[in-house]
Amino acid sequence: MTVIRPSVSAEIFRLQEIERTAAELFRDTGLIDIDRMAVVSLTDHIAAIKAGLSFVCEVDSRIAGFAIGEWQERDAYLHELDVDPAFQKRGVGTALVRAFVDAARATGAGDIYLATFRDPPWNAPFYRKLGFEDVARAAYLPWMSALEESQAAFLDLSTRVFMKLGCG
Ligand SMILES: CC(C)(COP(=O)(O)OP(=O)(O)OC[C@H]1O[C@@H](n2cnc3c(N)ncnc32)[C@H](O)[C@@H]1OP(=O)(O)O)[C@@H](O)C(=O)NCCC(=O)NCCS
Repeated sequence: MTVIRPSVSAEIFRLQEIERTAAELFRDTGLIDIDRMAVVSLTDHIAAIKAGLSFVCEVDSRIAGFAIGEWQERDAYLHELDVDPAFQKRGVGTALVRAFVDAARATGAGDIYLATFRDPPWNAPFYRKLGFEDVARAAYLPWMSALEESQAAFLDLSTRVFMKLGCG
């Protein structure tokens, strides 16, 4: 049975483990240095839980994936989405994005944003299928530029794209 529900703090280490193993998908892409990457911190996970924007997907009582986010004023930002490799390509990621979007909308989100890689089929093309659209650089909000600036030391920004799902 598949269930999506809010995460609890006792699960954070499992979520960090999922993020680490899910990242293996990028190993041969040259986009991330998998062996040196940092996972989402305990502090950021706790903040996402407090913000009401942290969800897990359980498949037969095993946590298979998660989606976490934060509020940027009235907009919701989908910060991280990962599915355990043992459960990938079975619709878990799609269900988590939909649950995140539904929860953000139910809380009155303006728009929903995320940042991802442009090319891998499980990144921007995956989100496009779910209705997200690319955000042109000229339309970046101040927090987006600040976020990119903070990522410039470890990501090639030319490989990245912000995407938006309007709620209007
Ligand atoms: C992105 C991710 C969460 C998707 O989770 P998932 O449960 O495997 O996704 P779904 O089963 O819902 O797949 C939906 C669609 O995405 C695409 N997709 C997903 N994984 C793919 C892969 N490995 N290769 C190619 N396409 C893929 C397919 O188009 C798929 O549709 P289809 O099943 O009709 O072919 C998962 O691939 C993951 O954890 N990746 C590593 C971390 C990551 O990239 N996170 C997102 C960062 S913004």
